[in-house]
Amino acid sequence: MKYYITTAIDYTNGSPHIGHAYEKVLADIITRYRRLRGDEAFFLTGVDQHGQKVQQTAEAEGVHPATYVRRTTKKFVKAWEALQVEYDDFAETTAEAHKKCVQEILQKLFDEGKIYKKAYKGHYSIRQEQFLTDKERNEDGEFGEEWGEVVELEEENYYFRLSDYVDWLREFVSNSEDFVIPAFRKADVLNAVERAVDTDLCISRPKERLQWGIEFPFDTNFVTYVWFDALINYISFAGYNKPEGSELPDFKDLWPAQIHIIGKDILVPSHSIYWPCMLKAMGFADEEMPRLLVHGWWNIKGGKMSKSLGNVVDPVELTERVGVDAVRYYLARDIHTGRDSDFDPDRLVMLFNTELANNLGNLCNRGLNMTKRYLGGECKESSYDDDLSKELREASSKTIAVYKEAMDRFCISEALEHTIKFITLANVYAEKQKPWELAKDEANLEQVTAVLNHMVEVVAIAAVLLRPVIPHASERIIAQLQADHLNSISLEDLAWGLIPVGHTVAKPKPVFPRITLEEPEPSA
Ligand code: MSP
Repeated sequence: MKYYITTAIDYTNGSPHIGHAYEKVLADIITRYRRLRGDEAFFLTGVDQHGQKVQQTAEAEGVHPATYVRRTTKKFVKAWEALQVEYDDFAETTAEAHKKCVQEILQKLFDEGKIYKKAYKGHYSIRQEQFLTDKERNEDGEFGEEWGEVVELEEENYYFRLSDYVDWLREFVSNSEDFVIPAFRKADVLNAVERAVDTDLCISRPKERLQWGIEFPFDTNFVTYVWFDALINYISFAGYNKPEGSELPDFKDLWPAQIHIIGKDILVPSHSIYWPCMLKAMGFADEEMPRLLVHGWWNIKGGKMSKSLGNVVDPVELTERVGVDAVRYYLARDIHTGRDSDFDPDRLVMLFNTELANNLGNLCNRGLNMTKRYLGGECKESSYDDDLSKELREASSKTIAVYKEAMDRFCISEALEHTIKFITLANVYAEKQKPWELAKDEANLEQVTAVLNHMVEVVAIAAVLLRPVIPHASERIIAQLQADHLNSISLEDLAWGLIPVGHTVAKPKPVFPRITLEEPEPSA
């Protein structure tokens, strides 16, 4: 069984911004971490290409929606490439196999009486593409801003009998320990369950209003509501009901998904109400329900990032400016998974320069340089030992243990903090031992050797621990250590003693050149 990780699939009615990028980087880090743990992992991300918003934007630009989504999809693919987000498959909801899977599910649920048709007159939110009931009104009895323009509409549609599953869902969510991570979000879900009582879900849109969607197999006058279509990507691309000869994965190898990574805005009602009820209706058992890892939002100065405010951060442009390591490191380091954070470019620069350039970069540079200069690049045998060295070795096993514990809880920033503390300790160790002073007297050779071995060893351990977050930088450090075996070592085997006696290291090159946000001086 593989560890199956998915992200939300991004709407293709715009360009990727730093919020979308964060989620993909988070998923990529978790995937790489599972592989470091020795698990087989499968990472699915993609794009949500149907729906009214896409149809409207395409119309405004005077192109067919298919042309439009092809164009915007490329921007997402390009962004994830720039950010070294390496997924195993990329879900596009216009893919034939996905459409077929959605239609088969609709047909089956219809045949079983779980979908029915009825006429309905009511308030409709154009932005959210759904009918609203009084439960959606705020304290003043109004439909709040989040619903955008609300109009009165009467039409026939198909409904999914969501209300049949509400009692089951309440029970399931109440009893489950990890359906929603972090646990403090469970209360939001339980409140949303109560709002779903007696309400079925409208899952069709008449063709006169929306053409850009998956057609109903039993009524071609309708297309599928975008959420019903999009949620199914998690199983359609995992090989659910795949036809003979399909290249999709084997569903039983992936399902249940270990983790669906989503933002807090799409926890209710889509992922925690519609999705489990849809799965239940399809016949999935409680043990086959996925888990939801709900992350917070990146804001700008405490407020929302939005196109209209002109404060959207473009991840590709940022990466071109400061480099991919700095962007990935910042997105992992300056947010606590599940909570919101403020995107601050000055902190991005500061964290990269202090924690990577000055701290790890310096340790690597000094350790390797002195090994080259005093020991001809060889990590030699030494019988010297002292309390400071012992303390550093002990810190290594503690660091690996707490790192693992934090990463298992998806607390990436915490894991990084432990790693950085360990590197700082090694720099303090170097300052106290002063191998550059010791080396002036040949009688200290044993001690110099031991101290440099310790410094090099910490660099090696740190490079492995940082691999999920900054994979290419980790490879560059490992290349300087000339210790290729570390590129594939698993966390289980990670312990003091990675660099054997007699091993030769290369001359160091700066792995983390310091960055600045200033524009380069125009050339004269
Ligand atoms: N298409 C739906 C998801 C369907 S999943 C079956 C959607 N798309 S989205 O493009 O609006 O958002 C994609 C993801 O990006 C969501 O998980 C959302 O929470 C996340 N983010 C959007 N803005 C964000 C921030 N400012 N910060 C962090 N993540 C944010 O919803």
